[in-house]
Amino acid sequence: MGEEGRLRVKTGGDAERVVITFEDSGPGIDPGDIKKIFEPFFTTKKRGQGTGLGLAVTYGIVKMHRGQITVESNTDPDRGPTGTTFTGNSAKESTGELRGDRR
Ligand SMILES: Nc1ncnc2c1ncn2[C@@H]1O[C@H](COP(=O)(O)OP(=O)(O)OP(=O)(O)O)[C@@H](O)[C@H]1O
Ligand SMILES: [Mg+2]
Repeated sequence: MGEEGRLRVKTGGDAERVVITFEDSGPGIDPGDIKKIFEPFFTTKKRGQGTGLGLAVTYGIVKMHRGQITVESNTDPDRGPTGTTFTGNSAKESTGELRGDRR
């Protein structure tokens, strides 16, 4: 997000699901990169500055909770404010079957 920017975190959902959104006012993610951002070790940061594991780990945690994570992003100021929104959602009730070895 750079030196300054806004990060808005919202929680919500309904009787069945919990939804969390993280909306930032950063530069956005290149459309060509979007499909790669959840891959382990994919990073656009300078060497030594990012592991490329942040979103891969996040994705794993969400999946362990049988949830989904989606991303929307805009890099083009002509189309509106730039930024990225991640939305995660998961069932409120656990089935008691959360095991690391399950997919
Ligand atoms: N909120 C965001 N705004 C813009 N680009 C993002 C955002 N989140 C992720 N990205 C892009 O996705 C890439 C992968 O993100 P990820 O969090 O997995 O690793 P990283 O941030 O590069 O490294 P680390 O998590 O170790 O700091 C980033 O390098 C960046 O290109
Ligand atoms: Mg990161």
